[in-house]
Amino acid sequence: MSTPPKIIAIDGPAAAGKGTLAKRLADHFQLELLDTGLLYRAVAGKVIDIGVEIADDPKTYSASAGQAARGLIPADLEVDGLRSDQVAQAASKVSALPEVRAALLSFQRSFAEHPPYGGQGAILDGRDIGTVVCPEADVKLFISASTEIRAKRRFKELQERGVEAIYARVLDDMRERDARDTGRDASPLVAADDAFLLDTSDLDADQAFAAALDFIETRST
Ligand code: DC
Repeated sequence: MSTPPKIIAIDGPAAAGKGTLAKRLADHFQLELLDTGLLYRAVAGKVIDIGVEIADDPKTYSASAGQAARGLIPADLEVDGLRSDQVAQAASKVSALPEVRAALLSFQRSFAEHPPYGGQGAILDGRDIGTVVCPEADVKLFISASTEIRAKRRFKELQERGVEAIYARVLDDMRERDARDTGRDASPLVAADDAFLLDTSDLDADQAFAAALDFIETRST
């Protein structure tokens, strides 16, 4: 077995299974976990809260979003409602703004280098962790699954939370967000060249964890 990783980067599109996998790997290796999507959701939440609409023209919300990102504090991450699909779409829009990404970069890097609660290291999940935030990570995983499977997972999750949803709408939202997150100029969603690619379309959470662990424990470092 190789030495335990100090920094694990997990990237991939929405509902691919990154979050669940990240939690399990964090427990296993005693790493502190940062869900970086929550930072972008919190920025979007702050902009929405001050009454600025996050619509199609970035000019109408870029200044507010930049300000929100620069002033982000831990309490902003605890706000109710950040997990909604409406906030997810808004987060995807503000995350395309270079000034928002720049403002959140140092927080993410310092979390990775100095995990806050005395963990053995850090695990960050997001879209650009292996490529931009932690290009030197010991382990990079890129988690994907077909769009339909991801939309089904999200639909089921919404139903379980008692949120009314229409599958076709969830699928459309997923496609729209994927297109924006992969097509933007600033740190687009893309697998790092040295990432381990894991397609979870036909895997449950246990199988995905086993596959990731197998890769990590047999990697040569
Ligand atoms: O992981 P999530 O669904 O909570 O992320 C919400 C949005 O935030 C996502 O659509 C794109 C953006 N994001 C990003 O651009 N970079 C990251 N590292 C994490 C999230």
